[in-house]
Amino acid sequence: MCKVTFHGHACFCISSEKHRIIIDPWLTGNPQADITVDEVKDIDAVLVTHGHGDHLGDAVEIAKKCDATIIAPFELATYCGNQGAKTHPMHIGGAYQFEFGRVKLTQAIHGSGLPNDDGTITYLGNPCGFLIEMGDRSFYHTGDTGLFGDMAMITDTLLHGRKIDVMMVPIGDNFVMGPEDAFIAVRWVNPRIAIPMHYDTFPVIKQDAAAFKERVEKELPVKCQILQPGDSLEIND
Ligand code: NI
Ligand code: MN
Repeated sequence: MCKVTFHGHACFCISSEKHRIIIDPWLTGNPQADITVDEVKDIDAVLVTHGHGDHLGDAVEIAKKCDATIIAPFELATYCGNQGAKTHPMHIGGAYQFEFGRVKLTQAIHGSGLPNDDGTITYLGNPCGFLIEMGDRSFYHTGDTGLFGDMAMITDTLLHGRKIDVMMVPIGDNFVMGPEDAFIAVRWVNPRIAIPMHYDTFPVIKQDAAAFKERVEKELPVKCQILQPGDSLEIND
């Protein structure tokens, strides 16, 4: 059994019977967040796709308070390590078997710069997506990305070439894929369940998720699950 809980924007927790991880934990300042950093507990690892504030968010604080490891692309992991967090740097194409499960980094077409107070930007390497195998289930969190052709081959790169159970896919447009490209991404990846993310947080990324769900379920053999912040989805057989 595995449980996926949405905490708004691109933040998800995935729990198995023994372990729990959090992805892109932007809670402080996230108008969609249903929990505060204080309420985050028992996290084994904090996975961060890129250095933008709406993804890096509270990663360092959560890692420190839970004694969890930050898993991120090398440059971003180094940045978090310099702030005192325990880190496990990785990079695109690389996989590693952690105690909680296996993580492989995929490419994502996006940026990863973090603006500083003095007007400069700290560049934190390439952004990524995560392929996660945990509790006998597989997950693909695309990170922030535009559509790219290699998504069509993503399932082949999973450990057993198995179908992806849950794909978290951005539909917000403007900074990431919009609903039209996200539909193509879901068609190519062909997961059992697609969960839309990265929409409605700000006016510029307002989208009709219900319309996206309707199209996906009408035209593809994929279930589209809209989660409100705080909602969980249990992934059984
Ligand atoms: Ni971003
Ligand atoms: Mn973002």
